[in-house]
Amino acid sequence: MRALTVQPGHADSARVEDVPEPPESDGPVLVRTLAIGVCGTDLEIVAGKYGWAPPGRDRLVLGHESLGRVLEAPADSGLAPGDLVAGIVRRPDPVPCPNCAAGEWDMCRNGKYTERGIKELDGYCSERYRIRPEFAVKVASRLGHLGVLIEPASVVAKAWEHVERIGRRAVWRPRRVLVTGAGPIGLLAALLGRQRGLEVHVLDRVTEGPKPQLVRDLGAEYHTGSVGELAAAADVVVECTGVGQLVFDIVSRTPPGCVTCLTGISSGGRPIPADFGVLNKTMVLENDVVFGSVNANRRHYEQAAAALARADPAWLARVVNRRVPLDRWRDALVRQKDDLKPVISLAAE
Ligand code: BGC
Repeated sequence: MRALTVQPGHADSARVEDVPEPPESDGPVLVRTLAIGVCGTDLEIVAGKYGWAPPGRDRLVLGHESLGRVLEAPADSGLAPGDLVAGIVRRPDPVPCPNCAAGEWDMCRNGKYTERGIKELDGYCSERYRIRPEFAVKVASRLGHLGVLIEPASVVAKAWEHVERIGRRAVWRPRRVLVTGAGPIGLLAALLGRQRGLEVHVLDRVTEGPKPQLVRDLGAEYHTGSVGELAAAADVVVECTGVGQLVFDIVSRTPPGCVTCLTGISSGGRPIPADFGVLNKTMVLENDVVFGSVNANRRHYEQAAAALARADPAWLARVVNRRVPLDRWRDALVRQKDDLKPVISLAAE
């Protein structure tokens, strides 16, 4: 079967090649891959800056945002041939740490977790893959190809769940949310904020292209310019850019008790002069919380599947803005103007 593979650590090593059928040891559920979403992490892996091949191998099958159709599943697996599924990215560490032992592998404590398509496990960008049923999440059939958004939505569902858990440390009546960055993660964070009935403000740099209207069509407000006043009025901030200066400006300006969730992975290398003593003082005196959030466990995938099933499919279809066949995979891995979520199609739904 064909797969998109890459040699981690080596720039521009990606290619489509023939690989063996997925081994039975990967699990009893056999899935035909329909689509693979591309995100910043994939671009980093293809640029040789991130990613790890499975032990003893040079190459890794790429792809962690997946949508597939079940071909074979055991009778007691809760899955049946024809079901649409998304594959979970992370697998618990083998020790396992207390979180991985409890199915909270997104909170792995020892870093020995693995991730399909990213860290030591083949990804989903092959014509077929195998999986254990506990790592495959059912997608409502009415979502069709839009189910490819389940993985990025799971990352955002986890971020929101943790914001709310932290918020409940005291009286928690959030009203206003600031989302920074209107890429797919920011847009999905805004969607989940609106689904919670909150007033959502989204800040991005661009004034043109699809982002402003996508935000407005959620019933949220789109902003460009400086973050100061927006952060000062927020009860919750979901930061989705990873831009160091922006993060610093946000945490310096948020009001007392604000919960700020960082989801963007910074490229680093741009030192910013900052007075951490002043920042510490404000954070202490205001009971501020700033926390990082990565990955998602099964519960978050289920929350994501439910949130997407409630969303307007026409809106989601504007987020999945490009679909290219596997043969033209290169097109999907080069960012184009106005790109949101390019997707590689492996088979028709
Ligand atoms: C994925 C996460 C993963 C993270 C770090 C992100 O792009 O969505 O599932 O944990 O990269 O590898």
